[in-house]
Amino acid sequence: MRAKASDADLGEIRADVLVVPYFQAGPLGPSATAVDRALDGLLTRMRDDHEATGRFPTRTAVATLGKLPTPRVVFLGLGRSQELDGYRLRNALQFAVRETRRFCRSLTILVDQAVVAALSAQDPDQGEPRAVARAVAEGVALGNYHLGQLKTGEDPGAIEELVVVGLGTEAAISDALAEGSSLGEVTNRARVLQWQPSNQLTPTLLAAEAERVAKEGGLELEVLERADMERLGMGALLAVAQGSHEPPKLVSLRYRPKAQARSDKVLALVGKGITFDAGGISLKANPGMSDMKADMSGAAAVIETMSLIAQMEAPIQVIAVAALTENMPGGGAIKPGDVVSAMNGKTIEINNTDAEGRLVLADALGFAADRGATHLVDVATLTGGAVVAMGYAVTVAMGSSPELIAQLRRAGALAGERIWELPLYPEYDVALTCHIADMQNSSGTAAASSINGGVFLRQFTGDLPWVHLDIAGTAYHGEAHWKPIVPIGPSGVMTRTLAHLPFQMA
Ligand code: BES
Ligand code: MN
Ligand code: ZN
Repeated sequence: MRAKASDADLGEIRADVLVVPYFQAGPLGPSATAVDRALDGLLTRMRDDHEATGRFPTRTAVATLGKLPTPRVVFLGLGRSQELDGYRLRNALQFAVRETRRFCRSLTILVDQAVVAALSAQDPDQGEPRAVARAVAEGVALGNYHLGQLKTGEDPGAIEELVVVGLGTEAAISDALAEGSSLGEVTNRARVLQWQPSNQLTPTLLAAEAERVAKEGGLELEVLERADMERLGMGALLAVAQGSHEPPKLVSLRYRPKAQARSDKVLALVGKGITFDAGGISLKANPGMSDMKADMSGAAAVIETMSLIAQMEAPIQVIAVAALTENMPGGGAIKPGDVVSAMNGKTIEINNTDAEGRLVLADALGFAADRGATHLVDVATLTGGAVVAMGYAVTVAMGSSPELIAQLRRAGALAGERIWELPLYPEYDVALTCHIADMQNSSGTAAASSINGGVFLRQFTGDLPWVHLDIAGTAYHGEAHWKPIVPIGPSGVMTRTLAHLPFQMA
């Protein structure tokens, strides 16, 4: 999607659709007022009649019938101004575009002081004009998400040109718009991967996508096969893979800054890449099992973010590590009670084969440390408990480094992605208690299930600063009630946040 800044007057805008944001309560902002006047008070009347409520997110489309050069105006309700943040803004734009893209190729949006002020009130960084420009371009680009090819003969259309009026036309704004467009488009790639059925996206095919990203971004690529994993002693990852006919892969991409790195830090982004999680012998129940095609959402994010890191020329070295396998109950599958040893030598009793994410991550974290990582961030659809605790609107974090968590939250603010921390008090270590091995992989109770995942992973992080991001809630959802406040389907969550992180760390 092309995106550009403009300072055109209302009478000169000739887009297919003009999007005019407004808030639920209070007086209309300057640009909504101008459009309202040009349309002889139409918006005021629709507000008085409760037809246009401004609730979040609502879309009221009207024909301009020659009163403006633009044939259609979409009034976009952003809810209460004091509740607007970068996350909600992107979601509202995505909602508007999804309904509009069928007949709209070029879209112009009026972003006025009312919107900028609302964002600034939440967080001055988010209200900064370049941040707003990026947010708007991202929201519109995200609205272009389309799974593609699986439904024959379907063309949902896409916005090809975005013009943003109201943020000025300096080079910095144009650059921010181009960057936002690209951040949104790469996020959409992660979303397409997430939603591919598992027969169309095996570990081998996901590794091939990583190879494409490496080629495109000029990144170093390393792919471990089963025999390599055996040689390295990755007993935990291999245990998960042994119930499936699909060969596992461990993929690693490395970015080195072209200029002198700004520090010696090496950031490792470690992704859970279960291309289908049937649960293994601890088989999952039928309802909703098809969603487990998206249990590779962490891997999709860390792979796609590498193409952004290359494009944006991050200031420090970054490696992505994706542990790719199915979790299936085949004849060779690992059985509850089996004991394996991970790459770092620690032994694990696998008392629940459905707690497989932490097993594959144990070895992926070990591998990242082995390859020189100084900082670890893992991303995983790890626990149903994250959905229970937080629903779909915020990613769960925990870890050993308050500094790294703070940097991630700032990166998240730039990306319009929310992150909330859970504690790792020493009491939670009881989850690991095991009489026959160093630890068990599941506590056997639902209490503190997300935290227990973090407690387990910490065993494989050595002394490195580490943060675990549980994206089980935010990676995707299919709940009618949450639609459209949070876009339904896959989100590509953390793809953009992780692209901003190295800049926060330098
Ligand atoms: N992939 C699931 C977690 C999940 C559940 C993600 C729902 C998204 C939506 C994970 O492998 C899993 O099965 N976790 C278990 C762990 C338990 C056995 C300790 C869970 O959360 O129930
Ligand atoms: Mn599982
Ligand atoms: Zn899983």
